[in-house]
Amino acid sequence: MLLDFYPTFKLQKNKDKPVYKKMKILFLGDIVGPAAVRHISKSLWDYRNKNRISLVIANGENAESGNGILPETAELLVKRGVDVITSGNHIWKQSAARDYLEGTETLIRPLNYPGVCPGKGYTIAEADGYRFLVMNVQGTVYMEALACPFESVERALEINKGRYDFALLDIHAEATSEKLAIAYCFDGKINIMVGTHTHVQTADERILPKGSGYITDLGMCGVQDGILGVRSDIIIDRLRTKLPAKFALKDGNPVLCGALFELDTSCGVVTDVRRVML
Ligand SMILES: [Fe+2]
Repeated sequence: MLLDFYPTFKLQKNKDKPVYKKMKILFLGDIVGPAAVRHISKSLWDYRNKNRISLVIANGENAESGNGILPETAELLVKRGVDVITSGNHIWKQSAARDYLEGTETLIRPLNYPGVCPGKGYTIAEADGYRFLVMNVQGTVYMEALACPFESVERALEINKGRYDFALLDIHAEATSEKLAIAYCFDGKINIMVGTHTHVQTADERILPKGSGYITDLGMCGVQDGILGVRSDIIIDRLRTKLPAKFALKDGNPVLCGALFELDTSCGVVTDVRRVML
């Protein structure tokens, strides 16, 4: 693929870095429920090896039936091929995750929650000899009034200056305009940016003008025959009656949705992005 733009990424020159030129990085959308966790457990290593994927990031904030993620589920996902688990507004649903967030480097929560909240909004993962700063931020349009996502990301980049080779960001947000605004704001500064939270995969995967890879929403890892992973009768009833209802996940065979990016490690530019539905 010919690049018709000049990359603006500032790479650290280090002669000891390995010579891999193209790296594949897989992002998986919101993991919804135990069936999706089982599907990932069974199939991810195989898919990862077959496609020579160097790094896997997945959003795990809905991994349990009642939302949130338990420490044992996070550890299982890591054992089965997920390198970093990002999250979002549902991360606080399981109280056991709160203590766990303090001591883990593989599960992160959005950067822009108040500083008193447990955990961190970023982590550094290593793959093929490179250091990846993985960040997670939450949108504020139609969502909780958290700190400014733009300033929170700027601060995380500043704090970690010199500690990473490439940067990745999960934008957990409701509004497509907000996700796009964050992506264009950090184009050329963050190598790959993906949206999560809506559970519906968007068909706008692209390479932004300054070389960052992007998709507005990865979609979900869960059962498609329902409403965002939940039984459709419950949601229809709730919307028609306006009465509160307890959610129950839809049974069935889950699909894994995400996007596969190819990163040119010599210049930091993403050279290919493809939607994935497994
Ligand atoms: Fe969410």
